[in-house]
Amino acid sequence: MNATASKVVLITGASAGLGAAVARELAGRGHRLALVARRADLLERVAEEIRSRGGTAACLPDDLADPGAPARIVEAVSRHFGTLDVLINNAGIGLPDFFGRSDPDALRRQVEVNLTAPLVLARLALPMLIESKGIVVNIGSGIVRLPNPSLGAYGATKAGLSYWTDALRRELRHLGVRVCLVELGPVETEFFDAVGRLEGGDRGLLGPTPAGFVYNAMRDRPPGLMMAPLSEAARRIAGLVDAPRPLLAVSRRVIWPVRLAGAFFGLLPVLADLAVSGMIRRVDRERPGPVPRRPEAPGTPPSPSPSPAEEEGASPQVMASRSDSR
Ligand SMILES: NC(=O)c1ccc[n+]([C@@H]2O[C@H](COP(=O)([O-])OP(=O)(O)OC[C@H]3O[C@@H](n4cnc5c(N)ncnc54)[C@H](OP(=O)(O)O)[C@@H]3O)[C@@H](O)[C@H]2O)c1
Repeated sequence: MNATASKVVLITGASAGLGAAVARELAGRGHRLALVARRADLLERVAEEIRSRGGTAACLPDDLADPGAPARIVEAVSRHFGTLDVLINNAGIGLPDFFGRSDPDALRRQVEVNLTAPLVLARLALPMLIESKGIVVNIGSGIVRLPNPSLGAYGATKAGLSYWTDALRRELRHLGVRVCLVELGPVETEFFDAVGRLEGGDRGLLGPTPAGFVYNAMRDRPPGLMMAPLSEAARRIAGLVDAPRPLLAVSRRVIWPVRLAGAFFGLLPVLADLAVSGMIRRVDRERPGPVPRRPEAPGTPPSPSPSPAEEEGASPQVMASRSDSR
């Protein structure tokens, strides 16, 4: 690649997984990298590897949940490189859990990292991107096509990212800035560690495999054949830097069926509710989790014994929503 084709690329979440793989791939194509993530040691390891192969990489360790991070990062890129050609909003956290069990602070953090930080980074970097007729790449998720309650809050951040990507592309088109969305299916990275770590489980969202295990898409990590190889995902995403396009599906063999199923259920939402609720009820029966209840006021008599419906094994989440709706 000649020197004039070398672009300055800012990539978030570059210490591990997809971000690190895309950074290595881009460096191999002659692009210069600004790498962001919290773990400075891992970031430095990726940068060292790139430099040892003759590439250029600057480490900008920061926490994207910190409201001051985007300004620090954009200022550092401007100081270090003097320009920015490509912003890849890749950092993201998935906190698989059912909404009723989730930690409110973790929910806020998830929104800040997955949605707020990309918006603010792009806004602050916009003058440089307009000057360079640059590219914004947002890493979304195929999950937005088929809402899954065990990743509901995560999916909401990705749906927001997807909407904003289309809006931004239409706003900036006449200025020569290209805006791309990657609709990503499952890729084997640290992302899935969160699924395994939760409650010390060995394969699923809610812990060790129960007796009489039946695969449940609301609880278990996707089967291996659905996982895209990391190298292939990185190569296709890196390709957007040289040939941007509005929407990239990675991998097509997973994303296309998900899109079709999503379109079908979009026309028949009652059918989708029945199918998904059935899976949730099964999870609840196999491994009931804590369901949020109002704290008891001082002096309140002890809770009554379970109702006949609860004793029959009806879903605690369903029970909770029934009593809430009264
Ligand atoms: N893997 C999948 O199956 C899959 C599917 C669909 C979409 N995606 C999306 O693809 C993107 C990359 O995911 P991945 O699979 O590579 O995940 P990963 O292996 O967990 O890596 C996430 C990256 O984000 C960084 N990060 C997390 N919180 C951060 C924070 N507060 N500030 C700065 N950096 C932070 C992490 O670095 P530090 O921990 O060092 O900060 C890490 O480098 C994410 O947006 C994810 O939502 C992944």
